[in-house]
Amino acid sequence: MTAEVVVEVPATSANLGPGFDSLGLALAVVDRVHARFVPGSAVTVEVVGQGAGTVATDASNLVARVVRTGLAAFDESGELAGRGLALRCENAVPHGRGLGSSAAAIVGALAVAAHLADVADAVSSAELVALATRLEGHPDNVAPAVLGGATVAWLETGEVGPVGRAVRLAVHPDVTPVLAIPEQECATERARGALPTRVAHADAVFNVARAALLVHALASDPALLLEATDDRLHQPQRRSVYPAALGLVEAVRDARIPAAVSGAGPSVIAFAVGDPAPVVARLAELAGPAWQVRAVPVAARGVWAR
Ligand code: HSE
Repeated sequence: MTAEVVVEVPATSANLGPGFDSLGLALAVVDRVHARFVPGSAVTVEVVGQGAGTVATDASNLVARVVRTGLAAFDESGELAGRGLALRCENAVPHGRGLGSSAAAIVGALAVAAHLADVADAVSSAELVALATRLEGHPDNVAPAVLGGATVAWLETGEVGPVGRAVRLAVHPDVTPVLAIPEQECATERARGALPTRVAHADAVFNVARAALLVHALASDPALLLEATDDRLHQPQRRSVYPAALGLVEAVRDARIPAAVSGAGPSVIAFAVGDPAPVVARLAELAGPAWQVRAVPVAARGVWAR
């Protein structure tokens, strides 16, 4: 019997308005995975919190599959990937709400595999971003879960396909995200299916300027966040997928509070500069009782072992 590995990984909010598939933020809502090798070759998964009773608890569970993928990648002997595993997933990140639950599962599972294989010190965050992007598909979702803070992610052309890369930015200490989380879920595939294949040049220019401005606003000048979180490339095109979320974003922005749809929705992320209480109160008032509204600090660090 080996020692237990415990890994924690933050939620993420991708896009942040103009930074479609590139900008992201780590949020202090944390999933925890306990893992250990057990005799035999079976995998057992206990799920508590978010997803309990709905996500798979056998070898088809996403965390279980990615732990095995990670073991196959990290253990040259090939022996560890076939060993029995006992996993316990304590989930706080809501599923299907645009808050990076699948990125947290994948990044957490890869970190678990690196620790179980005893190579965590040798696996760089760049390798984790690349591997997690290959499995998750969106570098903007996985990069903040690996690096913490805010991240700029992109795909580089590699020999066998695109490689996820990312850099981290420290977020200005006055900035606090405020989330509005609805009850209903939204499938990322549906939101991606709503995107057009072509965009107007003027809209691309609009977003390039704001995405660049957002990097500056988040790091150094939060007063610019309202202007810097505007988008014309994906949110309006997805209106039919998340009409209530987009309506809320518009109402919040009309109240001069920076806001965007979180990831592929349907949660909304707003930004408080200074005391978050007035933003929480205004967002709750505009959202109504069907939404859970709360301030959630930026998570300064990405995935870590306890
Ligand atoms: N950037 C992605 C999207 C994040 O909005 O589709 C979802 O995983």
